[in-house]
Amino acid sequence: MQIAIIGTGYVGLVSGVCLSEFGHDVVCIDKATSKIDRLNNGEVPIYEPGLEEMIARNVAAGRLHFTTELAGPVADADVVFIAVGTPSRKSDGHADLSYVYSATREVAEVLRGFTVLVTKSTVPVGTGDHLERIIGEVNPDADVAVVSNPEFLREGAAIADFMAPDRVVVGSNDDRAKAVMAEVYGPLDSERHPVVFTSRRTAELTKYAANAFLALKLAYINEIADLCEEVGANVQDVSLGMGLDSRIGRKFLNAGPGYGGSCFPKDTLALVKTAQDHNKPIRLIETIVGINETRKRAMARKVERAVGGDVRGKTIGILGLTFKPDTDDVRESPALSIVQALLDKGALLQAYDPEGMETARELMPEIDYRDDAESVAHGADALVIITEWEEFRVLDFPKLKDLMNAPVLVDLRNIYSPAHVADHGFVYESVGRSDRYR
Ligand SMILES: NC(=O)c1ccc[n+]([C@@H]2O[C@H](COP(=O)([O-])OP(=O)(O)OC[C@H]3O[C@@H](n4cnc5c(N)ncnc54)[C@H](O)[C@@H]3O)[C@@H](O)[C@H]2O)c1
Repeated sequence: MQIAIIGTGYVGLVSGVCLSEFGHDVVCIDKATSKIDRLNNGEVPIYEPGLEEMIARNVAAGRLHFTTELAGPVADADVVFIAVGTPSRKSDGHADLSYVYSATREVAEVLRGFTVLVTKSTVPVGTGDHLERIIGEVNPDADVAVVSNPEFLREGAAIADFMAPDRVVVGSNDDRAKAVMAEVYGPLDSERHPVVFTSRRTAELTKYAANAFLALKLAYINEIADLCEEVGANVQDVSLGMGLDSRIGRKFLNAGPGYGGSCFPKDTLALVKTAQDHNKPIRLIETIVGINETRKRAMARKVERAVGGDVRGKTIGILGLTFKPDTDDVRESPALSIVQALLDKGALLQAYDPEGMETARELMPEIDYRDDAESVAHGADALVIITEWEEFRVLDFPKLKDLMNAPVLVDLRNIYSPAHVADHGFVYESVGRSDRYR
């Protein structure tokens, strides 16, 4: 199949590369010239494990191309995927569809022959109908079917998620489009990686329903964690005891500083707005949006407690800035809120993240950025683990203790056992693990 992908970000690039790995002929298009230049020079503009090798392999095989020019590849394509951003609209929290609309207009102008236009971007229910209207206005003769194919990949595990997905959801009522999409995903083993065909509106809503449910699980275990701290229980054991029940499942039950990232915050908010607009408010999700927002900032109070009540003038070392490990993405990372709250309280901050510092520097210029965990510990009154990068799981406590002004560790990801850290003479705070009544 000839495939054009519009938007070469976290989703567009991974999708394009993986579709070329399936054997399709893929052109990835982006307006950001610097991104395309880097890709054409063999560089990868994002950090995603395994991506660089896969790009090199498919470029060498002549199946994968990068360009800023949309017209030619779209005219030649059997399938055009739109994978541009759909951030929260600043004014009201709805999904901002301006990038999707403008990409659709550009596509509509140059369509040639029957083409399937697929929204891979996360878009509110009914967006596909609107895209059809746009195409009808721009190019009434276009022979096109608009399909919804939301993406469920996770940054950090994106290649495995795309190549071996739990499921692929395709929303369309058009038989020709369904046949084309079946061919696009033909290389997947249909038993283990089913392609679920639904109506377009159903597919659009499925993505939001899934993300909001995962956010709900996280918000729930976080509130249970707070209760654990109060009543002397251990949230990790509660989570294990709950999660081993196959009806519940163990994933997304790790208590922490609140969910972040480029999807959950904006998608929960967009679902709330959509439901309100249809006069069917989803109170559960409205509630967790608020809970999560206050939680992130509240984590700064844990740090205050750990250093004796006041962080003013104290040096706090931050380990991890990205919203999760194995990505360079800091969008809506809990670190942003925690750092801001600590700055507001008068703390001095020094930080390290294995992949996220380049973007973090632009968003948080007040931080003193360091090269590793040890230089962050140097002179610090406390260390705070915000992201559970693998290298933070093997900290050299004796060395850190020597370097720090005071041996205090706030572990917002519960990656250490309290006893282990205490054995090294550290004051230790974590999330939802109280041994008060042990
Ligand atoms: N990041 C994730 O983990 C993830 C997972 C599932 C779904 N999604 C959804 O996928 C969509 C894309 O997310 P992302 O994280 O990849 O975004 P991103 O910001 O990383 O990438 C979007 C890209 O689109 C480009 N772009 C915008 N308008 C364009 C146009 N008219 N023509 C060409 N290029 C254009 C931008 O320059 C940018 O490179 C969003 O709707 C998001 O909700 C993201």
